[in-house]
Parts: sequence; structure tokens; C-alpha cells
Amino acid sequence: MQTTAPMPAESAAAVTGDVARSTTRTSTSTTAGTPLVSVQGLTMAFGRRVLQRDLNFDIRSGEVLAIVGGSGCGKSTLLRHLIGLQEPAAGRVLYGEHDLYASDPATLARLRREFGVTFQAGALWSSMTVGENVMLPLQMFSPLSAAQREQEARFKLALVGLAASFDAEPAALSGGMKKRAAIARALALDPALLFLDEPSAGLDPLTSADLDELILHLRNDLGTTVVMVSHELESIYAVADRLLFLDAATQTMTALGPPRELQRDGPPTVQAFLRRGAPAPTAAAEGQTP
Ligand SMILES: Nc1ncnc2c1ncn2[C@@H]1O[C@H](COP(=O)(O)OP(=O)(O)OP(=O)(O)O)[C@@H](O)[C@H]1O
Ligand SMILES: [Mg+2]
Repeated sequence: MQTTAPMPAESAAAVTGDVARSTTRTSTSTTAGTPLVSVQGLTMAFGRRVLQRDLNFDIRSGEVLAIVGGSGCGKSTLLRHLIGLQEPAAGRVLYGEHDLYASDPATLARLRREFGVTFQAGALWSSMTVGENVMLPLQMFSPLSAAQREQEARFKLALVGLAASFDAEPAALSGGMKKRAAIARALALDPALLFLDEPSAGLDPLTSADLDELILHLRNDLGTTVVMVSHELESIYAVADRLLFLDAATQTMTALGPPRELQRDGPPTVQAFLRRGAPAPTAAAEGQTP
């Protein structure tokens, strides 16, 4: 039942720097909707403090899955568990038939190369230009020549609207540009699976809408599966196929499904969380209108 995402060597070989090919990159070994990752009985804890227990869900090939919940409920921690950076207190994270935390180092390294990640802080290497940041994974993990790496990095930067920033220092970018540059770097190796932690937090609505469009482009045209931590409800409604709700009070997931269905029929706490996205204009807000 499980399938395996493409080998990194294959993804790397598929990276030719040709714009046209990017619209045809889809995983040949997965079918839309099949589980790419299965999370089984996952309990996350720091020492004796349990954050979330008994999480059970799949990440389906070709979906955008939003991880949602109040601040501090464990969303970023869950991402770390999903990418092999933090061992579960209990339970398993399966990539195809591979248990992420029971894999030999070679398998783990191969699995890790199949996904791209941007962290909440979106760190870029400040000692390198933006272009060098994006080329770094290609230098480390692909057989591409220097010229091909540059072509590919320029293509990925263009994809996120930063074509002109190849030679820029990260310090010269705005917050939103840094986030987009981090996404370009996460996309460098054409990952089948992309993890984004709060990609649109702190962005203005237009930049945020651009990011939504980018995520939809990745899913629709490149077949990328996207797991996105977000509390931006507009963005969630725009791009997420399903939403996983982590409840801080009960310390477990209390909903998993399409955002609009959950807004209508989900548990009361989830509905309340999701309804905050479309409030009627308040008197105070109206009072500010000229
Ligand atoms: N390395 C760590 N050691 C101990 N506790 C930690 C560590 N990292 C996170 N925590 C705690 O775990 C809880 C969940 O943190 P996490 O960053 O996963 O929350 P979050 O849901 O991503 O929150 P936010 O929406 O604010 O980003 C927090 O109480 C945090 O203080
Ligand atoms: Mg977080």
C-alpha cells in the first residue's frame, strides 16, 4: 500500500535548469492521494512534559496539509518529528515502509534529501549571497555543474519572485523576501515533499497571497506535497486540502479534514478557531475608515 518517493539521485538528475521541465515534474512512483507519510501513535514530549499524544494521520501525496492550533501546542515540534530531527516519545513516522527513526544512516540521509524544509525563523546563511544559499543544497547533494547549479538557483528564485536577488546579501532582503528565499532554497532539490513553518506569518496581505499562489503552483503543476504550519486563516482556506488541528488543552489532534467542512461541522473549539478568519467588521475597525 505504501509507496516510496523518488530517489534523491533521480530528483537531482531531473534538475536540468530547464523551465519547461518544471511543469512536468511529478513523482512517477506515487499516485495522488496515496499516503506518502504515515504518522502512527505519535507522542511528542520534552522530558516528562507531553505536548501531544497519540497522533495518527497520513500525509497524502499531492495534498496541501495545514497543521493548525494555538501558539505553543506543538506545531513546530511536530514538523521536527516529521523531518527526523526529534525522536518521538512513542509512535512512528513512516516514509513508505521506512520508519524514520529506525532507519540506518544511509536510508535516513536518502529520506531527508526527499524533502525541503523552511523553519519558522527562516534562517539563511548570512555569509553567503541569496544565490549561494539556494545553490548550497545542489552543491552538497546533486551532481550538477557550477553553471547548472546557478541556472537552477536562478530558476528557483524566479519561481518565488526573487529573480533580481541572486547576488543580494540576505541582510538586504525584507522579511517576506527572506521567507521566499528560504522557500527557494527548500525547493532546490525538487523535493517531493515540502515542509513550511509559518510561511506567511508577518507578511503583508499581497505578499501572503503571492505565497499562496506559489504553494498552489507547486501542488498543481509540480505535484509537490506541502505540509504547512500556519495560523493565517485566509491562507489556509486558499490552499489547504486538509487541516490537522492540534489541541493544546486535550494534548491531541481533535480534527482532520477539509478546512471549510471543519469550520461548519468540526468540534466547537475547532469551529471557533476557524471562524475567527472571517469576522464581521467591528465597530472599532469601521470607526477607522475615513
Ligand atoms: N527544545 C525545547 N525544549 C523544551 N521545550 C521546548 C523546546 N522547543 C519547544 N518547546 C516547548 O514546546 C511547546 C511547543 O513548542 P512549539 O514551538 O512546537 O509550538 P508551536 O505550536 O509551533 O507554537 P507557535 O505557534 O508559537 O510557533 C512550547 O511550550 C515550547 O516552549
Ligand atoms: Mg511554531
